[in-house]
Amino acid sequence: MLQKLENIVNSVESKLSAVNDNNGLEDARIEFLGRKGLLPALTSEMRNLTPEERPAAGKALNQAKQKINALFADAEKRLSASTTADNGPGIDVTLPGRKQNLGSKHPVTKIIDECARVFRRMGFIVADGPEIETVYNNFDALNTPKDHPSRDELDTFYFDDGRLLRTQTSPVQIRVMENNEPPIRIVAPGRCFRRDTPDATHSMNFHQIEGLYIDKDVSLADLKSVLLTFAHELFGPDVNIRLRPHFFPFTEPSVEYDFSCIMCKGKGCSVCKNSGWLEIAGAGMVDPEVLQNVGYDPEKWSGFAFGMGIERIAMIRYRINDIRLLYENDTRFLKQF
Ligand code: DAH
Repeated sequence: MLQKLENIVNSVESKLSAVNDNNGLEDARIEFLGRKGLLPALTSEMRNLTPEERPAAGKALNQAKQKINALFADAEKRLSASTTADNGPGIDVTLPGRKQNLGSKHPVTKIIDECARVFRRMGFIVADGPEIETVYNNFDALNTPKDHPSRDELDTFYFDDGRLLRTQTSPVQIRVMENNEPPIRIVAPGRCFRRDTPDATHSMNFHQIEGLYIDKDVSLADLKSVLLTFAHELFGPDVNIRLRPHFFPFTEPSVEYDFSCIMCKGKGCSVCKNSGWLEIAGAGMVDPEVLQNVGYDPEKWSGFAFGMGIERIAMIRYRINDIRLLYENDTRFLKQF
């Protein structure tokens, strides 16, 4: 009996020294102390002893029990100490989870995507051109006179090698026409640069979307219907458009086009400065000079072009009253889109 008790205590000791998690501890507890465990089994063996043997055996049994309980208590302490050491002061399951902030598209990108989608459905494909351009593509080929004020160093960013940061997306027209035969139907969204003093409606860099349609017998009526469809797709069927005579070197005739004010539906409000109209962009029939510059026969081909400011549309669409908000990257602003 005494030998058996000693064996049990020894095997508890070696078992517990190998235990390294709570499950292992629980298994050991069941093995030695559980209802069908080794120690209760020994306790019931007490019955088989003679009355002379019992007192000594009983005493030894109690000592063994105490020893075993102490071993379990030690093991428990050791395990809980190591969990706390690994995981810091434990896990507070009541803490709220950490929020993952989802990004969203920038309002300028959203408008570009939306415009491109509308024009794509009308058969236009999206073209691209570089932001650093030649003077020829940005001005000369577009029939811009040598003394035109927009060429001034005070208005345009020039590089030492004579190239410039494009002031408009119109040079993409030249690149596309030089590299393709008509018919042509493209839109070209992109960044432009001008030496403007920043204020609520001006920024040194901004975006335009250019359109170009070249085919046989294209007329101003085609331009008007494309722009009207665009207005309806973008701002709904109630929006009207109007074309006003204007001048651009690369179109003849040239127009500026307005959308009826989407805030007041043309009645007059602070956004449209009581005119009922919002100026959206410039457009016109491609000047025969431009067609000639790219090697197209103006007797055979005609077309229209247009160019509009993306920020202007974004500001109208999202009621943004200062263009600089679009470039400050304040997440409190951007989060709203
Ligand atoms: N490039 C002109 C600007 O920046 C806008 C423009 C006007 C583009 C008429 C055109 C056009 O294609 O036909 O002010």
